[in-house]
Amino acid sequence: TKPNVCIVGSINMDLTVITDKMPMQGETVLGDKFFTSPGGKGANQAVAAARMGANVNFIGAVGDDSFGPTLRQNLANEGVETKGIETMSDEATGTATIILSESDNRIIVAPGANNRVTPELVMQHSDLIKNSDVVLLQLEIPMETIMAVTELAEANKVPVILNPAPFQPLPEEVLKNTAYLTPNEIELASMKEDPLFESIQEKLIVTRGDKGISFAENGAEREISGHSVQVTDTTGAGDTFNGALAAELAGGAELSDALVMANAAAALSVSKTGAQGGMPTKQDIQEFLRKRKMSE
Ligand code: RIB
Ligand code: NA
Repeated sequence: TKPNVCIVGSINMDLTVITDKMPMQGETVLGDKFFTSPGGKGANQAVAAARMGANVNFIGAVGDDSFGPTLRQNLANEGVETKGIETMSDEATGTATIILSESDNRIIVAPGANNRVTPELVMQHSDLIKNSDVVLLQLEIPMETIMAVTELAEANKVPVILNPAPFQPLPEEVLKNTAYLTPNEIELASMKEDPLFESIQEKLIVTRGDKGISFAENGAEREISGHSVQVTDTTGAGDTFNGALAAELAGGAELSDALVMANAAAALSVSKTGAQGGMPTKQDIQEFLRKRKMSE
């Protein structure tokens, strides 16, 4: 049987404009292409986990605008179970306005319906959490919901992976009820301000972009090096990592093996535009790692 991953998180439509030049304050510039593509950290991670072969349940919300059905259908097409996704009336679907240049990407998220992913909504679908092998969370839904999910998961002995993005300070109970935290280097710098930082060392898995991953294993710091690849769009690379990691751990993989797979998944994802474009299947990753090994 397939491993079960439950994701409680955000669904956004990404509105991306590509430009050579970032506008300065008060400035208008002529950009290049514009495109819309499915995004949201929760949805991206769900697609990544599904492509890795996991059975993925999603708890979340869209608005009653035209983006809602499109994004729900996109998840269904990827094989993600959407019965835990609510359509909120009088609410906009979440959007992310992304300005992408060759050397930079800047994102503004308007949460819309994602702010209505409440503890009550989660409790209506609590079976999806109880029956999963791994729960995966990000921070684009209300913190009280993160608290409720981590508490429920802990009570049912289901390990939680929390991707602390976009960064917000985390309540002590959340840190306690989480098995792994997966910040990038910028989020890690913010986490270091936390007086509880010392107590969560063992739970940290830090994603360092093309420099790879660092993590703790039996009290020792370990690293997995990055892959040098042709970059088209790094949007969603972190999400690919988290989704793949959740799928592998849910399938019973050892942490270090799961990290090797997730690290390669993220490297492959940056070859195509769009957060979900370029996300690999497990076979794609195995083939990529085999080729890399041969050329060593
Ligand atoms: O992590 C990338 C995602 O962040 C984008 O898809 C965008 O929707 C924002 O949520
Ligand atoms: Na991509």
